[in-house]
Amino acid sequence: MSPEEFKRLGHALIDWIAEFRAGIEELPVMAQVQPGEIKALFGKTPPQRPEGLGGIQSDLEGLLPGLTNWQSPNFYAWFPSNAPLSSVLADIVATGLGQTGITWQASPALSEVEEVMMDWLRQMFGLSQTFQGVIQDTASTATFVAFLTAREWASGYSQNRGGLQGEAKPLTVYVSDQAHSSVPKGALLAGFGKDNLRLVETDEAFAMRMDALEATIERDLAEGRKPCMIVAAVGTTGSTAIDPVREIAERCQRYGIWLHVDAAMAGSAMILPECRYLWDGVEQADSIVINPHKWLGMACDLSAYFVREPEHLIRAMSTNPSYLPKVEEAKAYKDWGIPLGRRFRSLKIWFALKDQGVEGLQARLRRDIENAKWLEEQVRATPGWKVLAPVPLQTVCLRHEPQGLSGEALDKHTLDWVNRVNRSGKAFLTPATARGHWLVRVSIGAEPTERHHVEALWSLMRQEAERMEVAGG
Ligand SMILES: Cc1ncc(COP(=O)(O)O)c(C=O)c1O
Repeated sequence: MSPEEFKRLGHALIDWIAEFRAGIEELPVMAQVQPGEIKALFGKTPPQRPEGLGGIQSDLEGLLPGLTNWQSPNFYAWFPSNAPLSSVLADIVATGLGQTGITWQASPALSEVEEVMMDWLRQMFGLSQTFQGVIQDTASTATFVAFLTAREWASGYSQNRGGLQGEAKPLTVYVSDQAHSSVPKGALLAGFGKDNLRLVETDEAFAMRMDALEATIERDLAEGRKPCMIVAAVGTTGSTAIDPVREIAERCQRYGIWLHVDAAMAGSAMILPECRYLWDGVEQADSIVINPHKWLGMACDLSAYFVREPEHLIRAMSTNPSYLPKVEEAKAYKDWGIPLGRRFRSLKIWFALKDQGVEGLQARLRRDIENAKWLEEQVRATPGWKVLAPVPLQTVCLRHEPQGLSGEALDKHTLDWVNRVNRSGKAFLTPATARGHWLVRVSIGAEPTERHHVEALWSLMRQEAERMEVAGG
């Protein structure tokens, strides 16, 4: 493709994306297709001859029914994964410049912009200068890297000797029973083994119980195991539960354990000084992950991983082949994680901050928190409706509980009305189980979601859930 052709097609595609975003509110939020429908649009074999990209817009139109519209103002499912248009431009530039950052030399600009952006994020999150950051693709990878680093740190860098086989004492790790699935997954992939993974009980607010944590650690010590890492969740996926970071950090210091903080979702709120009480004690963490590619508003994938003492990470991750020479004055990000090649992801942070400034991002997050508070108040004030977990930020966990319904019948009612809301295409919510029963999570924070959208959602939920009572069912 010549640069001239690129300009012509590129301008047309930018127009197409802009139109798509401008009309997104009119599209069904949840994809309306059945499994296989999108695959069927494609031939069974690849095109042997060039077709050209001239007709690509009409091909793309065919995919639209298969899109779940995360950027719709009526998206309240899983978590906000904002992809503002500044990120779209940054991604175009990142690929347009065609950089592959395997060493500083391979792209000094990529390396140094990442270093500056991670330091800007550090300041925005209120972390002290002790912390240094690196971009990982996802929180799952960052947490996995934390497990690998902690394992090496606690075992005196066992990979340099007998590897996992050489360990005399089994290493144990501790995560809340509400931890995101990527957390136990990371522990298992890092070789700790199910037998050494402790799912610590949580209290009525779904936060890790300190008495349970301590008893488990003491039992492991008494039985000859070596406690290695605790993961504190600052904002669980299910209900935004907040583990007590300061109290966990105190146990980590007492027993010599690595502290990793999973603030993948709620970490975005730390750009608001008034929310930082939620991770009080975080300065004691050894590693922290926050996903700017969730609520903060930088398109997926972009996960911020901060470490207090980078030498542990580097010691676990570094390689030193002759063809990747070290530059003493520069960071070698290949030694700060698993992949060698890296994209120019930091442009998304730079573009977002140039576009909105820290104040613009703060204003949007405050708006979302206010909207969640408003919804919480409506639910609490309405007979037959219940808020089921504290609402520290932007997720409201709720249930409609008609008189006389409980157990399986109530679960069925919950799933029925949520499915009706989702099938309507007017909003998209995700149900989840807590303590064995279904509830509905309303996760507020898509970039275009304003108060009137949340008001419309509340009416829609009431209409679908209370329908049964009207029908006398
Ligand atoms: C608390 C928490 N941790 C980790 C993750 C995993 O994030 P990622 O998709 O970046 O791996 C999520 C995603 O929802 C999350 O909410």
